[in-house]
Amino acid sequence: MKDIDRSDLSWDDWDEQIRPAPESTDFDRVVEASFSRRGFLGSVLAFGSGAAVMGTGLLRGTTALAETGAAFPFNPIPIFTDNDVHVPEGYSWQTVARWGDPLFSGAPTFDNGHGVDGSDLIFGENTDGMELFAIDGAEVIAINHEYVNPAINIPDRGEDVPPTADDVATLMNLHGVTVMEVARGTNGYEVVVDSPFNRRIHHNTPMTIAGPAAGHPLLQTSADPSGTQVLGTMNNCGSGRTLWGTYLTCEENFNGYFGSTDPELELPEGFARYGIDHDSRYAYELYHSRYDIAAEPNEANRFGYIVEIDPADPNAAPVKRTALGRFKHENAAMTLATDGRVVVYMGDDERGEFMYRYVSNGTYSEGGPTEGLLDDGTLYAAVFHDDGTGEWVELSPEATGMDDPAMISIHTRQAASAVGATTMDRPEWIAVSGVHPEAYCCLTNNSRRIDGFTNAGGDPAGYAPNSPNPRIDNHYGQIVRWRPAGADHGADGFDWDLYVMAGNPVVGMGPYAGSENVTEGNMFNSPDGMQIDSAGMVWIQTDGDDSNEGPYAGMGNNQMLVGDPVTGEIARFLSGPSGSEVTGLTWSADRTVAFVGIQHPGGSWPDGGDALPRSSVIAVWREDGATIG
Ligand code: FEO
Ligand code: CA
Ligand code: CA
Repeated sequence: MKDIDRSDLSWDDWDEQIRPAPESTDFDRVVEASFSRRGFLGSVLAFGSGAAVMGTGLLRGTTALAETGAAFPFNPIPIFTDNDVHVPEGYSWQTVARWGDPLFSGAPTFDNGHGVDGSDLIFGENTDGMELFAIDGAEVIAINHEYVNPAINIPDRGEDVPPTADDVATLMNLHGVTVMEVARGTNGYEVVVDSPFNRRIHHNTPMTIAGPAAGHPLLQTSADPSGTQVLGTMNNCGSGRTLWGTYLTCEENFNGYFGSTDPELELPEGFARYGIDHDSRYAYELYHSRYDIAAEPNEANRFGYIVEIDPADPNAAPVKRTALGRFKHENAAMTLATDGRVVVYMGDDERGEFMYRYVSNGTYSEGGPTEGLLDDGTLYAAVFHDDGTGEWVELSPEATGMDDPAMISIHTRQAASAVGATTMDRPEWIAVSGVHPEAYCCLTNNSRRIDGFTNAGGDPAGYAPNSPNPRIDNHYGQIVRWRPAGADHGADGFDWDLYVMAGNPVVGMGPYAGSENVTEGNMFNSPDGMQIDSAGMVWIQTDGDDSNEGPYAGMGNNQMLVGDPVTGEIARFLSGPSGSEVTGLTWSADRTVAFVGIQHPGGSWPDGGDALPRSSVIAVWREDGATIG
């Protein structure tokens, strides 16, 4: 393994360490100095037909309303840099579930840490995407545990000491997904310990593989010659929900779990594109041969998918839906085409990778059969044009040059490269509005959109700036929005604009000042999590630099903001504790409570004193009991 600090880094920070970004270039500085802010907006964001159709106010002066909060039912909060959560006046919050909290009465008591025994009976670490389901009068939250911090979970291990078998078992148990019932108690929402719905799904949970890649030789291993049965789901990042009440969990940085005990091993074809190499983050390969690519080269082909989980049936095996493609899945945003086909929008969170759409062959009707809706369909990749239009390009064997749908499902990145998909600045969450015929994708940042650099596929377009990703050294991020032709998410054409370009209007120059709906009062960086509420308002969560210095001065801690889709106004609603990322948002059945995830907090949040920091889900509500989403 490389000599790197694997202790308590976020996954993004870890990735940055092992694949460092280049320093900014002269070209970068020239571009920064030569574009005036308004001139930049006028050129890059000059809408063609898209603007006329959307009729939205990206470029409108929105400062006054955004700063007074007149457009929002709350007074926007200022930035904070402390180790606490802040919400607007008239709102309150409390923790609902912390890493280490019991889901079952037999769980060990958390004592500023825990051992391997019972580590599969507690709420896992580093909460991420989540969805709440109302099931027969119960409220059940399915929630991801994206990754673990070994230095926190195994504090005695010390740096660069290989973990023991028990350590690895503990780390495996703290990952994955929790399904838990929550209910109102005397102190607000709390976990219903021992609820029949409660379940932990981790790196050793049996699940099945469905869709075009199921049974393919590239998915066959010595433990599973059928290529249809697999243990575990990993690096579960964002979430989604189906129209039929199941949970979708998305395998993101799965590459980091596989290593090679043979340092000279020649990597199998396709591994480099996905970042699978000899190094691993957790040394699983020392104790489990299936994580050793020298022993089981096909095991890594069984990860990188979207997994469907039935929160109503704790005994149902999760199913990996390979028809939705294999890449670093951020989340899954499902909607319907006009003709009833199922549409799923998805992002691949890596610099210079792509946005995708899946369209089923069959149609969905409420209460009707759902068999095959996520197994039989077509994948598309997004191409954006400079004139404000774009299209979803089908990933067919003919277009990609690949043998069959199975290969497209396994090597989806290569398929999208083959059709010339537009390289993006790390597509994170996508959200579809139920109010307006439009969808949004957070493009969180890209430290390497510099000429001469390209993605791992070596795409000819490389990292040269393009119209939806217009900035060199994009450390702030932007949100792209598209409206499908004919207001039909099944249509292949769309119009697009940038809903917001994050930036710093105080210290940023040119395009780095951000779009007009970014003000001194609402500025933020690195949009990541996103949900659209029942009124069509866009809730934006950030996972960026919270140093509050230099280009980030005035932005404070990571936060959650609310954006108006029509006026473009954006207001800050919540500030997370220092060191944390705010990620994951869902609402109670009556929409009076928002559940919000706080991942990798710093300090000793939320317990204080000498306590370890504990990633947690919090509940936020309006004190007068009104709905908030
Ligand atoms: Fe797990 Fe792309 O965030
Ligand atoms: Ca994310
Ligand atoms: Ca992120």
